Amino acid sequence: MEQTGANRERVLELLEEFGGVTPEIVRKVHELTNIAEAEIWGAGTFYSLLRRPGKHVRVCTGLSCRIRGADQILAQLEANGTPCEGVSCLGQCDRAPAALNADFEAMSYGPDQRAVTPADPNLPMNLAGEPDYSFSALAKARQMTRDEVLAEIEASGLQGRGGAGFPAHIKWRGVSDQQDPTHYLVCNADEAEPATFKDRETMLRRPDKLIEGMAIAARVIGAEDLYFYIRGEFEAEYRAVKAALERAAVHVADFNWHFHRGHGAYICGEETALLESMEGRRGMPRLKPPFPFQKGFRGKPTLVSNVETFACAPYIVERGGQAFRDHGRTEAGSKLYCISGHVNRPGVYELPLGATLDELVEAAGGYEGTPFAFSPGGASAGFLPISMRDVPMDFKTLAEKGSMLGSAGVVVLNDTVDIAEATKWQLQFFEDESCGQCAPCRIGTRYLHNQVIKYIRVGEAGKLQHAADVAWEMEEGSICGLGMVAAKPLESALKYWPEAFAGRNSETKR
Ligand SMILES: Cc1cc2nc3c(=O)[nH]c(=O)nc-3n(C[C@H](O)[C@H](O)[C@H](O)COP(=O)(O)O)c2cc1C
Ligand code: SF4
Repeated sequence: MEQTGANRERVLELLEEFGGVTPEIVRKVHELTNIAEAEIWGAGTFYSLLRRPGKHVRVCTGLSCRIRGADQILAQLEANGTPCEGVSCLGQCDRAPAALNADFEAMSYGPDQRAVTPADPNLPMNLAGEPDYSFSALAKARQMTRDEVLAEIEASGLQGRGGAGFPAHIKWRGVSDQQDPTHYLVCNADEAEPATFKDRETMLRRPDKLIEGMAIAARVIGAEDLYFYIRGEFEAEYRAVKAALERAAVHVADFNWHFHRGHGAYICGEETALLESMEGRRGMPRLKPPFPFQKGFRGKPTLVSNVETFACAPYIVERGGQAFRDHGRTEAGSKLYCISGHVNRPGVYELPLGATLDELVEAAGGYEGTPFAFSPGGASAGFLPISMRDVPMDFKTLAEKGSMLGSAGVVVLNDTVDIAEATKWQLQFFEDESCGQCAPCRIGTRYLHNQVIKYIRVGEAGKLQHAADVAWEMEEGSICGLGMVAAKPLESALKYWPEAFAGRNSETKR
């Protein structure tokens, strides 16, 4: 790698090490890297953990935490003079209302429930099972050819678990086939979609599966350097993966393992923004094509995949692709569903892909109160009415319903929630997290959020008259998925609960 590239890749790490973005620190990083100060400012100020590095309480303002009183907690902390700030979803929805203390340790102002499916060795992910450091699947894969492993991945029907559901075997083969001799593998562990915390539990409970799956994939694609990109707020998860790697060392010593920590930007979960961030820049998504499998990290063919996707691979190699496929119902395999909101036992449940909301909630101890709406796949999925509780929650069916499975972060809302308020919270998330490079997304997210605030304040339906046009512009004119789906919460709420937006008084909340 050219020297400037190597130095640039250190910029964010150095800013973090020295304590954030201040004139003195930027000068020091410039002296160490020779990267222009203006560029260091530009990159550093993009990331919330570098921009606001101080030791303070970070209170989650995601949907599940807000319906459990996050706003009141924040107000109380402020009133007491406790240094604090409200932040976008912390991925702790199963202990809502959640916060991080000054040392980045997860804390909760409510009951800490954090359930997972009981141990069952027949489940592909088996989160509650004992970690297995025999790495027998990797040993088996080492005896197989590249094409034999790929054939099993194809037979398994594994679709990427990061949100888009793209077939894993196509991506693996795509990287493997590239002529360039250097290929990279990156594990996307930046999990920050509101309501999603399955990668967190996988890293904490089954880092063995993740590491083994990455090693299997690396052999197939011909990568020697493997990278974890782990969300900056995930301190315990980072430590769990590091410790697991030490235990697994004897099996995976033929690879070079590297860690990159996120610095606080939801958009860096988008794979090309993540690569920009790994290269020391602002996390702004790249125009595609070229796709990362063609030109990714340092311009080389790169496999970027989600934690859960990699963690499925050992089971597939060990038991065969068909065995994995058979765990699914409407689509292949089992799936980690995250559930929070108004249910009795929030957590991560491994169910057949295509399970319904009712089945998921049954696993989670039942509904709390009278449910009226749910969000099946994070903020990006918008809202669905509870009458759709029997719809299979898979990639294809939910897309046909105008929603998405995404990363399967399911939130249930009962009839105590004002849907206009819930819409406002989701829109605020997208406004806060837009990277700002496309005008339709930058302006549209702010406009929609402001209009809903005004609507709630004055109750005039006219405030939302341009919403559909703005949503169309955002969908058509955005570079990445964030801008394309950011209007979904409002679009879906207007579609299913038009009365809630037709003019307000105290009787027409919904
Ligand atoms: C705004 C946005 C945020 C995303 N966040 C994540 C994320 O946190 N984790 C993840 O694995 N994929 C995320 N993705 C999807 C990635 O771009 C990419 O598709 C995924 O990492 C590929 O892995 P897979 O093939 O295993 O699904 C996000 C996409 C968008 C548009
Ligand atoms: S759509 Fe939004 S988040 Fe995505 S690149 Fe454009 S401005 Fe950034």
